[in-house]
Amino acid sequence: MVDSILQLFLIHLATMMTSTKKPSTNLALCVTTNDFEAPAKEILSEKSWVYVSSSAASGLSLKTNLDDWSRINFRPRIMRSVSLIDTRCSILGQTSQFPFFVSAMGTLGNAHPGAEPLLARGSTRKGLHMVVSTATSKPLEDIMNAHQDEQNLLKSPSPSKLAFQLYVPVDRSKALSLIRRVKAAGYQSLWITVDTSVLGKRTADRYLQAQETLDQGVKAREAAAENEYSPAFGGRPVPGYLDPGLSWEDLAWIKQEWDGPIVLKGLQTVEDVKIAVEYGVQGVLLSNHGGRQIHSAPSALMTLLEIRSYYPEALEKLEIYVDGGLRDGADVLKALCLGATAVGVGRPYYYAMAAYGMEGIEKCTDGKRCFQILFDKEANKSLQCWLKRLKSQ
Ligand code: FNR
Repeated sequence: MVDSILQLFLIHLATMMTSTKKPSTNLALCVTTNDFEAPAKEILSEKSWVYVSSSAASGLSLKTNLDDWSRINFRPRIMRSVSLIDTRCSILGQTSQFPFFVSAMGTLGNAHPGAEPLLARGSTRKGLHMVVSTATSKPLEDIMNAHQDEQNLLKSPSPSKLAFQLYVPVDRSKALSLIRRVKAAGYQSLWITVDTSVLGKRTADRYLQAQETLDQGVKAREAAAENEYSPAFGGRPVPGYLDPGLSWEDLAWIKQEWDGPIVLKGLQTVEDVKIAVEYGVQGVLLSNHGGRQIHSAPSALMTLLEIRSYYPEALEKLEIYVDGGLRDGADVLKALCLGATAVGVGRPYYYAMAAYGMEGIEKCTDGKRCFQILFDKEANKSLQCWLKRLKSQ
């Protein structure tokens, strides 16, 4: 008992810590999610900056993620009452305050000393779901404790839930013991990353690694010493923690061990979505890993359009999420209008937390012109109305 109180106190203390460095930009001046990037760059070490901002090969997949959301426009309808707006959505049967969630990101200890527990607290405060990476800086149980502790501190309960992102290690006994820990800790759903047979070639990381080796030799594992399951640290793969042999058949033993909802993260074609339906998973996250894995991969938007054209039935058979390059509420709304259940957001939360800690996480969620733009009644009534109509068809 005393041990667990002490542990909670220490977790609380760690999450309240702020970086000693302060960004030169006042948080009030961050009015779009992109505004968190420059302040984060000021705060982060070069290694952490390279880790979060880097992308595969020459960056085509990242570029397409960022560009494609502006390639489609709305057809706004007018003169429908939008005086009552409900921002909630359901993700795997669980209410979320907003139709977006925090995507899985590894080693958040490099962004902020509060690491994943801080992001879990922020998500809980805002009613967001968060997908916790296998490659965390802090043990998965500590992250769940932070989420539950934050729930207890709130005046009214938050709908926020934690999901767990699984990288399947080569050694199946290690995979099983990890899944058992995830289950015991109370995570709601398992999101298996399926686009990472090997770690992508992150060009900026390669330059940095080469320079480090020239300077001093590689110091691996330092960032995530508390996590023996991390497949990579700062773009450096750890042998055995990503299974290049992973295939559809592996879902059988995973399902035996995990009886909750399963989402496959990293699907990029309609054909694979068809197979996912056949295998009976509850959801798919269309994603190219934030442009960090396969070079010249389609954006999630293009895959979503492919599904709508060639297999629209999928939208009724499982939940479809997208992530990659979503930077404001209009992007979120476009994805929803095209049939996505909800969307994931990665880097904006990393940058906001690195630069401004808890305040950054909160502002990223509901600052007037960050993601809140989606729900800013005055600015977006006609878009909301369009969405309402689409939903009621
Ligand atoms: C990631 N991503 C990721 N995905 C995953 O399945 N497991 C992981 O551990 C990580 N780690 C990770 C770290 C960092 C720093 C980034 C930026 C991304 C990919 C992530 O879940 C998501 O797919 C993308 O971040 C979405 O793109 P945006 O929102 O960053 O553009």
